[in-house]
Amino acid sequence: IASLRAALAEAVAAHLRDHGDAPTVGLVPTMGALHPGHGILVDAARAASDIVVASIFVNPLQFDDDADYLHYPRTPEQDVALLGEHGADLVFAPEIAEMYPGYPHAPLIRVSAGELGTRWEGAARPGHFDGVVTVVTKLFNIISPPAPARLEAWFGAKDAEQVAIITRMIADLNLDVTVRTMPTVRDENGLARSSRNQRLDESDYAAALAIPAALFALRADAESGEPLGLADQVAELSSAEGVGLDYLVVVDPGSLQELRPGDGLLDDRGVLQGTALALIAARVGPVRLIDNVTLNPS
Ligand code: PAJ
Repeated sequence: IASLRAALAEAVAAHLRDHGDAPTVGLVPTMGALHPGHGILVDAARAASDIVVASIFVNPLQFDDDADYLHYPRTPEQDVALLGEHGADLVFAPEIAEMYPGYPHAPLIRVSAGELGTRWEGAARPGHFDGVVTVVTKLFNIISPPAPARLEAWFGAKDAEQVAIITRMIADLNLDVTVRTMPTVRDENGLARSSRNQRLDESDYAAALAIPAALFALRADAESGEPLGLADQVAELSSAEGVGLDYLVVVDPGSLQELRPGDGLLDDRGVLQGTALALIAARVGPVRLIDNVTLNPS
């Protein structure tokens, strides 16, 4: 933490000296095991900021399951090499004892995601979003550059609830950080990139393609002004071989609450009237996958 802060202060001072204007610091928080979905966040931060900091920290507070935490892939050497190729200036990869001196005990004072942290992924993984906002707050505090530099933090739309919750936390707690997002990176068949995809065999992979297919069908309905075929997509996924559907819902992007026909964003016929999010989680083979798309009316 001390050396990151010293290096950041030095980079800010060098920028002020060489350019005379206040630098923007772009932060890309990650848990490592980096793939192209992370790469585009670093590229975007590189293009939009003067100083790019990436963090790698597998945060135990956001895992509800010890085994999942222990088995989370860790590839630090490759990660640091990849971050360098994408133009990161600094990598913050702290030891667990530095982030959580009392580990395995959680810190006494933590941040709560409130009610927003209890929906969808939050319901499936109790405490997950409290763990996310606690570590993200710590990262913002550790990587907050000295004035007049500004901090921008980059997140992927892949984790749509995470983006909504962090955006709300920044507003509610008056944090001096701007959230920037990048669209979900997908493979050639439309499956969202995830470190967990490595664990899918050939038949799991084929089954998993039903996930983006359902989301794209909803997006097409929204764009063509048709009633959203949500019930049809749920029925299709529920009977799909090799897919265990947890939820497929259309929600308000801010409150994450499910939309119902006639409640404003959806008219009585189920036609979308404004921007919404379709969220999905499903178990395929040994993993649980999440994905989402933004729905925009025609
Ligand atoms: P992690 O899962 O490593 O993801 C780091 C960032 O990469 C997140 O903002 C995530 O949304 C983004 N990302 C992952 N896959 C993506 C894809 N296919 N397309 C676009 N972006 C993608 O999210 C976390 O870590 C943690 O919760 C963290 C914010 C670091 C806090 O511990």
